[in-house]
Amino acid sequence: MSACSLICLIGFMGCGKSTVGRLLAERLGCAFLDLDSLVEERRGKSILEIFRCEGEEAFRGYETDALNSLTGRGRLVLAAGGGAAVRPENSRFFLENSFTIHLQVSFPEALARTRFDPLRPLLRLPQESLKALYDSRLPEYRRLGLTVATDGRSLEQVVEEIVRLLRARGQLREDLGQVHP
Ligand code: S3P
Repeated sequence: MSACSLICLIGFMGCGKSTVGRLLAERLGCAFLDLDSLVEERRGKSILEIFRCEGEEAFRGYETDALNSLTGRGRLVLAAGGGAAVRPENSRFFLENSFTIHLQVSFPEALARTRFDPLRPLLRLPQESLKALYDSRLPEYRRLGLTVATDGRSLEQVVEEIVRLLRARGQLREDLGQVHP
């Protein structure tokens, strides 16, 4: 497999995409981008406001547009929103343009990590609906990316496993970014 310049982290809310992504980018000496932040920047509104004023469908469209703007930028670690990977036009993007890692989190752990977060609109769903969403997304996350478990592991352990995977898959070519020892 030839080295991809884009490394995308996917997975359910609370799996640690943004935190792990930032550390991984630091380790690889490359840029980091959070897809939600990019959408917010492009729209001039928070995710919560977009959901509230324009609805989820509009948000999904902005998310797809933001994702498609990301090719040809040099090596980049991207934290994608938890729903980005499950839209068919986006899953094609992940398969064709990125080396994709699924950060696996169990449902109880995802709840524990996000329960005080007022900014994620979908966390307002009743718990059974959120669990159904989790269950429905898991197979797609697994199909699109290599799975790395996060429950009970430190951020550093997760980053190290990703680096190992990147190395094993020939994704650490020097022209794309240097791993700091
Ligand atoms: C969403 C996850 C959020 C954000 C939006 C919708 C989802 O991102 O994109 O609130 O559908 O799971 P995080 O996964 O970074 O929380």
